[in-house]
Amino acid sequence: MSTVGGVDGAPEFRDLRTDDLPLAWTDAPEPGEDTEIVVVVVSGSVLGIGAVDHAITPGRGALYGLVVHPDHRGRGWGTALIGELERRAGARGDTEVYLEVEDPRAERLYERLGFRRIGTVRNPTLRRVLGRGL
Ligand SMILES: CC(C)(COP(=O)(O)OP(=O)(O)OC[C@H]1O[C@@H](n2cnc3c(N)ncnc32)[C@H](O)[C@@H]1OP(=O)(O)O)[C@@H](O)C(=O)NCCC(=O)NCCS
Repeated sequence: MSTVGGVDGAPEFRDLRTDDLPLAWTDAPEPGEDTEIVVVVVSGSVLGIGAVDHAITPGRGALYGLVVHPDHRGRGWGTALIGELERRAGARGDTEVYLEVEDPRAERLYERLGFRRIGTVRNPTLRRVLGRGL
């Protein structure tokens, strides 16, 4: 059990439902057959969202659209959500995951979780591409 900004409880993960909307996404994922959109829920409140696409590159899960509600950042929910997206990638046969990042703080989080820089991409601004094996 943990206490987070007035929200108590252990995190649960489930697929996004239409009644979760509207959510403040900075980078809204496009739902599709090969894309799983996952929310982290604590005591009935949706605190974060992220997606994994299994089809862009076979064997590599693309993580994207990761956002935690501004009132609940820095308390481990982003880390938990990344763990769940990695678990789902592994369950679909991916052996690696990767993502694009622009924000240096977010990059530090990914590096702490074992991601390493594997390239850069202009999409549309210059972003680092980070990846890790599962
Ligand atoms: C990045 C993000 C999803 C992490 O979720 P979180 O629940 O805050 O993450 P955790 O609590 O597990 O980890 C904390 C780490 O996240 C990063 N972080 C914290 N607040 C952040 C913010 N406002 N923006 C970006 N990264 C942040 C930092 O590395 C932080 O570690 P630090 O406190 O030692 O600096 C969340 O901060 C967020 O939604 N940021 C804005 C959107 C964004 O940048 N998404 C990533 C796109 S690649």
